[in-house]
Amino acid sequence: MIISGKELSAKLKAEMAEQVATFPAKYGRVPHLTVVLVGDDPASVSYVTGKAKASEVVGIRNTTIRRPADISEEELLGLIRDLNADDTVDGILVQLPLPGHISEPKVIEAISRDKDVDGFHPLNVAALWQKQPCILPCTPKGIIRMLKTAGVEIRGKRAVVIGRSNIVGLPVAKLLLDENATVTVAHSKTADLPSVTRQADILVVAIGRPRFVTADMVSEGAAVIDVGVNRDPVTGKLCGDVDFAAVEPKASVITPVPGGVGPMTICCLMENTIECFLKKMER
Ligand code: GUN
Repeated sequence: MIISGKELSAKLKAEMAEQVATFPAKYGRVPHLTVVLVGDDPASVSYVTGKAKASEVVGIRNTTIRRPADISEEELLGLIRDLNADDTVDGILVQLPLPGHISEPKVIEAISRDKDVDGFHPLNVAALWQKQPCILPCTPKGIIRMLKTAGVEIRGKRAVVIGRSNIVGLPVAKLLLDENATVTVAHSKTADLPSVTRQADILVVAIGRPRFVTADMVSEGAAVIDVGVNRDPVTGKLCGDVDFAAVEPKASVITPVPGGVGPMTICCLMENTIECFLKKMER
Protein backbone atom coordinates (compact mmCIF):
# COMPACT_ATOMS: atom_id res chain seq x y z
CA MET A 1 0.00 0.00 0.00
CA ILE A 2 1.25 3.42 -0.93
CA ILE A 3 0.69 6.01 1.83
CA SER A 4 -0.31 9.22 0.10
CA GLY A 5 0.91 12.14 2.17
CA LYS A 6 -0.77 14.34 -0.39
CA GLU A 7 -4.23 12.88 0.30
CA LEU A 8 -3.80 12.69 4.07
CA SER A 9 -2.52 16.25 4.25
CA ALA A 10 -5.42 17.49 2.08
CA LYS A 11 -7.88 15.91 4.52
CA LEU A 12 -6.11 17.33 7.57
CA LYS A 13 -5.82 20.80 6.00
CA ALA A 14 -9.56 20.79 5.24
CA GLU A 15 -10.25 19.99 8.91
CA MET A 16 -7.89 22.77 10.02
CA ALA A 17 -9.61 25.20 7.62
CA GLU A 18 -12.91 24.55 9.39
CA GLN A 19 -11.28 25.15 12.76
CA VAL A 20 -9.50 28.34 11.61
CA ALA A 21 -12.77 29.70 10.17
CA THR A 22 -14.12 29.88 13.74
CA PHE A 23 -11.15 31.95 15.00
CA PRO A 24 -12.12 35.49 13.86
CA ALA A 25 -15.34 35.31 15.90
CA LYS A 26 -13.54 33.80 18.90
CA TYR A 27 -10.22 35.62 18.86
CA GLY A 28 -10.66 38.52 16.46
CA ARG A 29 -8.15 37.24 13.90
CA VAL A 30 -6.58 34.20 12.24
CA PRO A 31 -3.09 32.75 12.97
CA HIS A 32 -0.18 34.47 11.24
CA LEU A 33 2.87 32.60 9.96
CA THR A 34 5.94 34.53 8.84
CA VAL A 35 8.43 32.73 6.63
CA VAL A 36 11.88 34.22 6.04
CA LEU A 37 13.69 33.20 2.86
CA VAL A 38 17.32 34.26 2.41
CA GLY A 39 18.64 34.06 -1.14
CA ASP A 40 17.03 32.34 -4.10
CA ASP A 41 17.98 28.67 -3.95
CA PRO A 42 15.33 27.02 -6.19
CA ALA A 43 14.55 24.20 -3.72
CA SER A 44 14.07 26.70 -0.87
CA VAL A 45 11.91 28.94 -3.07
CA SER A 46 9.75 25.93 -3.90
CA TYR A 47 9.40 24.89 -0.23
CA VAL A 48 8.49 28.42 0.81
CA THR A 49 5.91 28.65 -1.97
CA GLY A 50 4.40 25.37 -0.74
CA LYS A 51 4.13 26.79 2.76
CA ALA A 52 2.36 29.91 1.47
CA LYS A 53 -0.09 27.82 -0.60
CA ALA A 54 -0.91 25.56 2.34
CA SER A 55 -1.49 28.62 4.54
CA GLU A 56 -3.99 29.90 2.00
CA VAL A 57 -5.85 26.56 1.97
CA VAL A 58 -6.03 26.46 5.78
CA GLY A 59 -6.94 30.16 6.07
CA ILE A 60 -3.76 31.11 7.91
CA ARG A 61 -2.27 34.52 7.17
CA ASN A 62 1.15 34.06 5.56
CA THR A 63 3.86 36.65 5.14
CA THR A 64 6.93 35.60 3.21
CA ILE A 65 9.88 37.93 3.77
CA ARG A 66 12.63 37.64 1.18
CA ARG A 67 16.13 38.89 1.81
CA PRO A 68 19.19 38.74 -0.47
CA ALA A 69 21.81 35.99 0.02
CA ASP A 70 24.36 38.61 1.13
CA ILE A 71 22.28 39.90 4.05
CA SER A 72 24.51 40.17 7.13
CA GLU A 73 23.96 37.88 10.10
CA GLU A 74 23.37 40.94 12.26
CA GLU A 75 20.65 42.23 9.97
CA LEU A 76 18.90 38.84 9.86
CA LEU A 77 19.05 38.58 13.66
CA GLY A 78 17.57 42.09 13.83
CA LEU A 79 14.70 41.03 11.58
CA ILE A 80 14.01 38.03 13.83
CA ARG A 81 14.06 40.26 16.92
CA ASP A 82 11.45 42.50 15.27
CA LEU A 83 9.26 39.50 14.42
CA ASN A 84 9.60 38.18 17.98
CA ALA A 85 8.36 41.51 19.30
CA ASP A 86 5.50 41.76 16.78
CA ASP A 87 2.32 40.68 18.56
CA THR A 88 0.54 40.02 15.27
CA VAL A 89 3.05 37.26 14.36
CA ASP A 90 2.35 33.80 15.82
CA GLY A 91 4.89 31.67 13.98
CA ILE A 92 8.37 32.40 12.61
CA LEU A 93 10.16 30.06 10.22
CA VAL A 94 13.55 30.80 8.70
CA GLN A 95 14.04 28.53 5.70
CA LEU A 96 17.21 26.45 5.91
CA PRO A 97 19.91 26.10 4.72
CA LEU A 98 21.27 29.61 5.17
CA PRO A 99 24.30 31.05 3.32
CA GLY A 100 27.63 29.99 4.84
CA HIS A 101 28.42 33.35 6.46
CA ILE A 102 25.32 33.11 8.68
CA SER A 103 25.33 30.85 11.73
CA GLU A 104 22.26 28.60 11.61
CA PRO A 105 22.39 27.76 15.34
CA LYS A 106 22.50 31.48 16.18
CA VAL A 107 19.49 32.18 13.95
CA ILE A 108 17.50 29.24 15.31
CA GLU A 109 18.23 30.29 18.87
CA ALA A 110 17.16 33.87 18.13
CA ILE A 111 13.61 32.83 17.27
CA SER A 112 11.30 33.16 20.26
CA ARG A 113 10.56 29.70 21.60
CA ASP A 114 6.82 30.46 21.58
CA LYS A 115 6.93 31.23 17.85
CA ASP A 116 9.24 28.38 16.86
CA VAL A 117 6.83 26.54 14.54
CA ASP A 118 9.69 24.36 13.23
CA GLY A 119 10.44 23.02 16.71
CA PHE A 120 14.16 23.67 16.12
CA HIS A 121 14.90 25.96 19.10
CA PRO A 122 17.30 24.32 21.62
CA LEU A 123 14.70 24.73 24.37
CA ASN A 124 12.13 22.93 22.22
CA VAL A 125 14.62 20.19 21.37
CA ALA A 126 15.53 19.79 25.05
CA ALA A 127 11.85 19.62 25.99
CA LEU A 128 11.29 16.91 23.36
CA TRP A 129 14.14 14.77 24.73
CA GLN A 130 12.89 15.27 28.28
CA LYS A 131 9.28 14.35 27.39
CA GLN A 132 8.10 17.83 28.33
CA PRO A 133 5.41 19.76 26.42
CA CYS A 134 6.99 21.13 23.24
CA ILE A 135 6.42 21.99 19.62
CA LEU A 136 7.14 18.82 17.65
CA PRO A 137 9.36 19.21 14.58
CA CYS A 138 7.19 19.00 11.47
CA THR A 139 8.74 16.15 9.47
CA PRO A 140 9.05 13.68 12.37
CA LYS A 141 5.53 14.56 13.52
CA GLY A 142 4.21 14.00 9.99
CA ILE A 143 5.97 10.63 9.74
CA ILE A 144 4.39 9.32 12.96
CA ARG A 145 1.01 10.59 11.79
CA MET A 146 1.37 8.74 8.47
CA LEU A 147 2.37 5.48 10.15
CA LYS A 148 -0.57 5.67 12.54
CA THR A 149 -3.04 6.55 9.81
CA ALA A 150 -1.82 3.62 7.73
CA GLY A 151 -2.51 1.35 10.71
CA VAL A 152 1.17 0.49 11.27
CA GLU A 153 1.71 -0.75 14.82
CA ILE A 154 4.82 0.98 16.24
CA ARG A 155 4.82 -0.41 19.76
CA GLY A 156 7.24 -3.29 20.20
CA LYS A 157 8.47 -3.06 16.60
CA ARG A 158 12.04 -2.69 15.39
CA ALA A 159 12.59 0.66 13.74
CA VAL A 160 15.72 1.60 11.83
CA VAL A 161 16.35 5.25 10.98
CA ILE A 162 19.02 5.98 8.38
CA GLY A 163 20.28 9.52 9.02
CA ARG A 164 21.05 11.44 12.20
CA SER A 165 20.30 15.06 11.36
CA ASN A 166 18.81 17.47 13.88
CA ILE A 167 15.89 18.12 11.53
CA VAL A 168 14.78 14.54 10.82
CA GLY A 169 16.91 11.56 11.88
CA LEU A 170 17.39 12.28 15.58
CA PRO A 171 13.91 13.61 16.38
CA VAL A 172 12.11 10.88 14.40
CA ALA A 173 14.16 8.27 16.30
CA LYS A 174 13.06 9.89 19.56
CA LEU A 175 9.38 9.96 18.56
CA LEU A 176 9.53 6.28 17.52
CA LEU A 177 11.15 5.47 20.85
CA ASP A 178 8.35 7.33 22.63
CA GLU A 179 5.88 5.14 20.71
CA ASN A 180 7.68 2.13 22.22
CA ALA A 181 9.56 0.98 19.15
CA THR A 182 13.11 -0.33 19.59
CA VAL A 183 15.15 2.09 17.54
CA THR A 184 18.48 1.82 15.75
CA VAL A 185 19.97 4.96 14.25
CA ALA A 186 22.16 4.09 11.27
CA HIS A 187 24.09 6.38 8.95
CA SER A 188 26.52 6.50 6.06
CA LYS A 189 29.31 5.02 8.19
CA THR A 190 27.29 2.10 9.57
CA ALA A 191 29.11 -1.15 8.83
CA ASP A 192 27.12 -3.65 6.75
CA LEU A 193 24.09 -1.38 6.60
CA PRO A 194 21.91 -3.91 4.68
CA SER A 195 22.17 -6.40 7.54
CA VAL A 196 20.94 -3.66 9.89
CA THR A 197 18.11 -2.38 7.69
CA ARG A 198 16.88 -5.93 6.98
CA GLN A 199 16.03 -6.14 10.71
CA ALA A 200 13.60 -3.25 10.41
CA ASP A 201 9.84 -3.56 10.71
CA ILE A 202 9.80 0.20 10.17
CA LEU A 203 12.51 1.78 8.02
CA VAL A 204 12.85 5.57 7.88
CA VAL A 205 15.35 6.87 5.36
CA ALA A 206 16.66 10.43 5.56
CA ILE A 207 20.14 10.35 4.09
CA GLY A 208 19.70 12.50 0.99
CA ARG A 209 21.06 10.10 -1.63
CA PRO A 210 19.00 9.17 -4.67
CA ARG A 211 17.78 5.52 -4.58
CA PHE A 212 20.17 4.68 -1.73
CA VAL A 213 17.91 1.96 -0.35
CA THR A 214 17.70 -1.04 -2.65
CA ALA A 215 15.40 -4.08 -2.47
CA ASP A 216 18.03 -6.27 -0.77
CA MET A 217 18.07 -3.83 2.19
CA VAL A 218 14.38 -4.24 3.01
CA SER A 219 12.67 -7.17 4.66
CA GLU A 220 9.37 -8.52 3.37
CA GLY A 221 6.46 -6.61 4.93
CA ALA A 222 8.45 -3.63 6.26
CA ALA A 223 6.90 -0.17 6.46
CA VAL A 224 9.17 2.16 4.48
CA ILE A 225 9.19 5.93 4.97
CA ASP A 226 11.21 7.88 2.42
CA VAL A 227 12.22 11.37 3.56
CA GLY A 228 14.61 11.97 0.66
CA VAL A 229 14.15 14.80 -1.79
CA ASN A 230 16.76 14.39 -4.51
CA ARG A 231 17.20 15.04 -8.17
CA ASP A 232 17.68 11.89 -10.20
CA PRO A 233 21.19 12.24 -11.64
CA VAL A 234 20.02 10.84 -15.00
CA THR A 235 16.50 12.19 -15.56
CA GLY A 236 16.74 15.28 -13.33
CA LYS A 237 13.34 14.37 -11.87
CA LEU A 238 12.52 14.46 -8.15
CA CYS A 239 13.26 11.14 -6.46
CA GLY A 240 13.57 9.76 -2.96
CA ASP A 241 16.27 7.94 -0.99
CA VAL A 242 14.49 4.65 -1.73
CA ASP A 243 14.43 2.79 -5.04
CA PHE A 244 10.64 2.91 -5.07
CA ALA A 245 10.01 0.56 -8.00
CA ALA A 246 12.24 -2.14 -6.52
CA VAL A 247 11.20 -1.77 -2.85
CA GLU A 248 7.45 -1.20 -3.23
CA PRO A 249 6.62 -4.89 -3.95
CA LYS A 250 8.34 -5.96 -0.70
CA ALA A 251 6.98 -3.25 1.58
CA SER A 252 3.68 -3.49 3.46
CA VAL A 253 3.40 0.28 3.19
CA ILE A 254 5.66 2.82 1.53
CA THR A 255 5.65 6.59 0.98
CA PRO A 256 6.24 8.00 -2.51
CA VAL A 257 8.44 10.94 -3.49
CA PRO A 258 6.97 13.37 -4.33
CA GLY A 259 3.61 13.24 -2.56
CA GLY A 260 4.67 11.42 0.62
CA VAL A 261 6.45 12.95 3.59
CA GLY A 262 6.81 16.43 2.02
CA PRO A 263 3.12 17.41 2.11
CA MET A 264 2.85 16.03 5.66
CA THR A 265 5.72 18.28 6.80
CA ILE A 266 3.86 21.34 5.55
CA CYS A 267 0.61 20.08 7.05
CA CYS A 268 2.26 19.75 10.47
CA LEU A 269 3.70 23.25 10.07
CA MET A 270 0.11 24.50 9.72
CA GLU A 271 -0.82 22.56 12.87
CA ASN A 272 2.11 24.01 14.77
CA THR A 273 1.17 27.54 13.71
CA ILE A 274 -2.37 27.01 15.00
CA GLU A 275 -0.91 25.53 18.21
CA CYS A 276 1.31 28.59 18.80
CA PHE A 277 -1.62 30.91 18.04
CA LEU A 278 -3.98 29.12 20.44
CA LYS A 279 -1.36 29.03 23.18
CA LYS A 280 -0.98 32.78 22.88
CA MET A 281 -4.74 33.43 22.75
CA GLU A 282 -5.38 31.23 25.76
CA ARG A 283 -2.60 32.73 27.86
N1 GUN B 1 14.74 23.19 5.05
C1 GUN B 1 14.39 21.92 4.76
N2 GUN B 1 13.42 21.50 5.59
C2 GUN B 1 13.16 22.52 6.43
C3 GUN B 1 12.24 22.70 7.50
O1 GUN B 1 11.47 21.81 7.88
N3 GUN B 1 12.26 23.91 8.11
C4 GUN B 1 13.11 24.90 7.73
N4 GUN B 1 13.06 26.05 8.39
N5 GUN B 1 13.97 24.77 6.74
C5 GUN B 1 13.99 23.59 6.10
